[in-house]
Amino acid sequence: MKTSEQYRPLFKTFNLPNGTELDNRFVLSPMITNSSTMEGYVTREDLAYAERRAGSAPLQITGAAYIEEYGQLFEYGFSIDDDRNIEGLKQLAQAMKKDGAKAIVQLTHAGRFAKISLKDFGVVYGPSKMNLKSPVEHTVLPMTKRKIRHVITQYADATRRAIKAGFDGVEISSAQRLLIQTFFSTFSNKRDDEYGTQNLENRSRFGMEVMEAVQKVIDKEAPQDFILGFRGTPEETRGNEIGYSVEDFIDFMNRIMEVANIHYLATASWGKNIYKQTIRHGKYKGEFMNRVVYDHLAGQVPIMATGGINSPDKALEALEFADLVGMSTPLVTEPDFVTKLKDGQENQINLGFSPEELADLAIPERAFKDIVELMDFGGSLSEETRQELRKLYK
Ligand SMILES: Cc1cc2nc3c(=O)[nH]c(=O)nc-3n(C[C@H](O)[C@H](O)[C@H](O)COP(=O)(O)O)c2cc1C
Repeated sequence: MKTSEQYRPLFKTFNLPNGTELDNRFVLSPMITNSSTMEGYVTREDLAYAERRAGSAPLQITGAAYIEEYGQLFEYGFSIDDDRNIEGLKQLAQAMKKDGAKAIVQLTHAGRFAKISLKDFGVVYGPSKMNLKSPVEHTVLPMTKRKIRHVITQYADATRRAIKAGFDGVEISSAQRLLIQTFFSTFSNKRDDEYGTQNLENRSRFGMEVMEAVQKVIDKEAPQDFILGFRGTPEETRGNEIGYSVEDFIDFMNRIMEVANIHYLATASWGKNIYKQTIRHGKYKGEFMNRVVYDHLAGQVPIMATGGINSPDKALEALEFADLVGMSTPLVTEPDFVTKLKDGQENQINLGFSPEELADLAIPERAFKDIVELMDFGGSLSEETRQELRKLYK
């Protein structure tokens, strides 16, 4: 069967700036299934899950791999903080690449949101000291320059491990309030040194230094066509206050592109229909976030829209202001979304889920333990489906 006429733009090939040709515009977006071991090793269930989705999209990004033990957000997430992880990561890369997709591993440090690190060590790090009450009373330790250098080295080492494991690329995430974002944000960064908020250059410095270090490893050790991606949240607001504006973000991206050769920028945030979220403050107030980002950066770096894209029509709509469209939760319950659409069987796409499908969908039995509620913020899957997924680990 043939792709329906109106969805053909989604099946136009796309070339990343490094020459990698992608068969269509879909991306399997990063999502942790929380099914690795407590020590951060990839499990057989992780592999089966990835393999079942090997044909889901031509570009695939793993869930968050933590680059050091103080950066762990998910209890059963997986680690890339030590060479001992390489063997499992190798298998994960192979599983994802089984049908020819490009496999990217997402490198993350959750900073002050590293709740597992807080549980294990009673300590989390951020740009500046903060006293917080949730989930228990604790202090966020401000990172010393030595700690900053250490974390940057960990990013570089993680990139080296990704190359050794056979991934086709790495994605550095600064989105959704991970450590890099908190340095850029005036909400969480109160420093007065060269990493502080006196000006955009200083706020950008940590992110730039991470990217510079990662790029150096790629230049030296990776194959020519190794992919470097970046994920960011284009605006940060709290009521009427601004952590950073979209103008700041675009400036940040320009600085990042001065030190690193990025092959895509994925935009991400929280909420419903993120792909058509509008700007809350400043001169672009009310405009589509992705349109503003696309207007400024298209031609310099491919843009990937994500969040809330759970139907072919929404994918098409998202493509208006993006080159690629990423889906996370929809591919949990419908790994064949893109194949069906390609074959003109869009009527067969089914985002619902019942426990009998567990084996066919290769969803780990205890998947999403404690984190199904994250799906409530995005809401790409129906309430009913989320209820079914909640039952998995009960
Ligand atoms: C259970 C769960 C785990 C997630 N894990 C990650 C992750 O590891 N890295 C990341 O960048 N985003 C993660 N996200 C956010 C998603 O990538 C995405 O932004 C969000 O689900 C909205 O997109 P969707 O509507 O396509 O699902 C996660 C979301 C959920 C629901």
